[in-house]
Amino acid sequence: MGSLLKSRDNLVVLKIGGSVITKKEDDTPEINRPNLNRIADEIGKVMSNRPEIKLIIIHGAGPFGHLYAKRYDLQLGLQSDRQIKGIGVTHRWMEWLNHEVVKTLQKNGVKAMPFQPSAGGIMSDGKLVQFPLNVVEKFLDLGLVIVSHGDVLLDNRTGIGILSGDHLAPYLAYNLRANRLILGTDVDGVFTADPKKDPNAKLVKDITPNTLEGLKIGGSNSTDVTGGMARKISELVGLADKGVASEIINIAKPGRLYKALMGDRMQGTLIHKA
Ligand code: IPE
Repeated sequence: MGSLLKSRDNLVVLKIGGSVITKKEDDTPEINRPNLNRIADEIGKVMSNRPEIKLIIIHGAGPFGHLYAKRYDLQLGLQSDRQIKGIGVTHRWMEWLNHEVVKTLQKNGVKAMPFQPSAGGIMSDGKLVQFPLNVVEKFLDLGLVIVSHGDVLLDNRTGIGILSGDHLAPYLAYNLRANRLILGTDVDGVFTADPKKDPNAKLVKDITPNTLEGLKIGGSNSTDVTGGMARKISELVGLADKGVASEIINIAKPGRLYKALMGDRMQGTLIHKA
């Protein structure tokens, strides 16, 4: 068994946005099978070409999480008995999506291991304050690929809260000292306006804590209970300041995830210290 410190040199945390593997605009949970199959195939090829890589995958929710979290107002914290049922319902949909992601990865030769955040994670005012990092490390050390996801968690202050994969992924990258954090979405990176609506939107190739001020960020989704692009960027800039750089890339485009995992860091927006 390899030593943990050594394994962290090759540790990559990958967030797969819910918009890529689900049909996010729909109001019934449905998986985008062509995208999921292709992404699993690209990850399978990387893991056989580069077996030294230790990989943590965090996938988002799309309608599987956001639809039910919103239906039961879980993003407001615990306010009424009606929400209690919604905690289990929302989590069940996330587990179902996680099961499908893990199964597809396994079919593509990836030693995927599901990891349920709500069973061991706790937040305080929406920020993770507890997570079984030692268990994650031990599974990684066995050679497993951790596959976790956004979820509904206990929250010390608000009772319950929504854990976004966009928060869990940087948390794990920082606490496990990953050398790369890749956020896979369905847009080419960070834009000056929403590229799906504004033809003049420009791709921002790199962001540092100094250039963030004055940057107009476009593209967030009204059904997204966890905050969209602007919140994602401010967390990543904070992380860059602490020394963990990240990349936002378009993994809905064939081949980009493969290239990124094989080492190409220039395909989207790079968020780094300076
Ligand atoms: C949200 O996860 C989890 C729930 C709503 C339960 P994410 O915030 O990571 O999901 P996406 O990527 O926006 O779909």
